[in-house]
Amino acid sequence: MKIAILPGDGIGPEIMAEAVKVLQALGLRFEMETAPIGGAAYEAAGHPLPETTLRLAQQADAILFGAVGDWKYDKLERHLRPEQAILGLRKHLGLFANFRPAICHEQLVGASSLKPELVAGLDILIIRELTGDIYFGQPRGRRSAPDGAFAGAEEAFDTMRYTRPEIERIARVAFEAARKRGKKVTSVDKANVLETFQFWKDVVTEVHQDYPDVTLEHMYVDNAAMQLVKAPKNFDVLVTGNMFGDILSDEASMLTGSIGMLPSASLNDKGQGLYEPSHGSAPDIAGKGIANPLATILSAAMMLRFSLAQPAAAERIEAAVKQVLAQGLRTADIWSEGTTRVGTREMGDAVVKALQNH
Ligand code: IPM
Ligand code: MN
Repeated sequence: MKIAILPGDGIGPEIMAEAVKVLQALGLRFEMETAPIGGAAYEAAGHPLPETTLRLAQQADAILFGAVGDWKYDKLERHLRPEQAILGLRKHLGLFANFRPAICHEQLVGASSLKPELVAGLDILIIRELTGDIYFGQPRGRRSAPDGAFAGAEEAFDTMRYTRPEIERIARVAFEAARKRGKKVTSVDKANVLETFQFWKDVVTEVHQDYPDVTLEHMYVDNAAMQLVKAPKNFDVLVTGNMFGDILSDEASMLTGSIGMLPSASLNDKGQGLYEPSHGSAPDIAGKGIANPLATILSAAMMLRFSLAQPAAAERIEAAVKQVLAQGLRTADIWSEGTTRVGTREMGDAVVKALQNH
């Protein structure tokens, strides 16, 4: 089993070191190979996704990804910016299905900005389509506006589009996932305004005919944003397009108290996957040893389950994480009165130690 380790920028290397430590402590045989990505790769090789890194990712059974990005690269041409690395990996590897669970851990109910009763026991799965939509639609660009009220003005444009097969396959992923959980899918669209999302709604409704045991509901994205903070526990599986999924998954993550706790998986149709924390590179706290490594450690658990056929090892990691939380250990992002503040490395060490009991 070969794992590509891509630490990236900001806090990426720090949190990745802890996840690697946890993987090594499992006593399984993995081959792990590290490669630069994002701003770090731009510095080292002049490109955020160097050919060698892409090849490693393509050959690996799974990819563990840290985070990319730093404000200092904002002025680079778009194709050289760190974000292009993750977008490129998604596209090159066909990682169309993005799983972003928002789970409120029992011990962290108080860290949520919502009232405890709204989030206690929360367990939502956001499934975000990841290789289509306005993120990748062509044409896109800038030009002088051909006509209209602002004669001679420049304009910029992107193209929102989805094909039937793209919608069908993500809908199937959502219905299959719902079957193993609460048997309800909320498909989020903007069918009242956008043709792309009327089509989305129509195709999801068609695919639903193959899953009569799963309840399907449709919701406009603006309402979904509201319902997520009003009554989040009404959701089970939420499926949506690339851009709405980007926004709603950040919103949902905050219900749980800390984005520092949430793993994610991006899968293709070969079972190959990229696993990464839901949070970003947090350049403001990079190098300080205070970042929360648990989202990356839990991403490693997801990787063991989905791409490496090691569900028992995944459960061991998840149980160890539960244990350290129960022991009251907290990084700064989830710290509260009466708990013990620890740094990135101490948190990783604690998980390794807890593995001995699981
Ligand atoms: C995410 C990020 C990316 C996205 C950026 C870094 C390109 O926000 O994974 O949610 O917009 O998809
Ligand atoms: Mn995002």
